[in-house]
Amino acid sequence: KHKVIFDTDPGVDDAMALYFALAHPDIEVLGITTIFGNVTVEQATENALYLTRIAGYEIPVAHGAPVPLAKPPGTPPGFIHGDDGLGNLTKRSPIKGQAENCSGAEYIVKMARAYPGEITLVAVAPLANLGLALKIEPNLPKLIKQVVLMAGTVTEPGNVSPVAEANVWNDPDAADLVFTAGWNLTMVGLDVTHRVVLPSSFFDALAAKQNHLAMTTLQHAVHFYCNFYSAIRPELGHACFAHDVLAFVYLVAPELFKTQEGRVRVATDGIANGQTMMDKHGKLFYPQPGWEPEKPVTHVCMQVDVDACIKLIDSTLGSAWLK
Ligand code: BDR
Ligand code: CA
Repeated sequence: KHKVIFDTDPGVDDAMALYFALAHPDIEVLGITTIFGNVTVEQATENALYLTRIAGYEIPVAHGAPVPLAKPPGTPPGFIHGDDGLGNLTKRSPIKGQAENCSGAEYIVKMARAYPGEITLVAVAPLANLGLALKIEPNLPKLIKQVVLMAGTVTEPGNVSPVAEANVWNDPDAADLVFTAGWNLTMVGLDVTHRVVLPSSFFDALAAKQNHLAMTTLQHAVHFYCNFYSAIRPELGHACFAHDVLAFVYLVAPELFKTQEGRVRVATDGIANGQTMMDKHGKLFYPQPGWEPEKPVTHVCMQVDVDACIKLIDSTLGSAWLK
């Protein structure tokens, strides 16, 4: 089983990813660290507690960074995920649960030290928690087994600027720290997440099958999310991109992806702020500062088996995992 810490800003596709992780037999979610992004970090923590508890899981949740490492904070995009991050739920059932008494970054470091070489970080949000954890424990890349990010784009246009993907754009300084830290790092970016489109009817069918508050909550949130996507991309129908869940699909089924290795850096200011740039060939004849050959490489997902991913998401969320 992959021992996972899930770093997230729930968020509709984050909720989908969380439920995939809880449902998949090869994943053990040890803890969740929350972060600003789709919502404020306060709302992200509340949502992480809510989503886990209604599904019947008492997973620890650590409250993460409220703002980016360096750039001024932005405003959460309530029109995409809802002001509450879950499609504006009309009412929430009461839940018990409280965040850990350490920060998200401290939680990551504590767990990495407790399970050296065993932890996988799956991060699907702005990367300040990972950046702060690297500052607390510079040896973190050696203690962590693997990092999988939903972040960035190399070949596909950005989704918040012509070149920037939202998670990177929201904290480019943290992202650049993460891409250059030297861990076993895989990037699942828009290059593949924009290929995997999930219709709202897919979640209607799952909710009909499972008939559980967790699945009807996800179904509601997905409908809100699909309203947004179908307005800007009508050719998709009432559907959304699979974004965050694909980081977990990669973790359990890497054979469904084609990756390319190369150094990835992030532009941290100017008009290209948040751009993820990849040195695909590693043959720069006169490498300039920042592109030295010894900089660590990232495995970047370039292609994906779309049908197999959708089948795996369907069978996993449709399995008997809800308590
Ligand atoms: C990413 O941005 C967030 O809005 C989504 O949750 C996902 O992590 C996609 O660019
Ligand atoms: Ca996210």
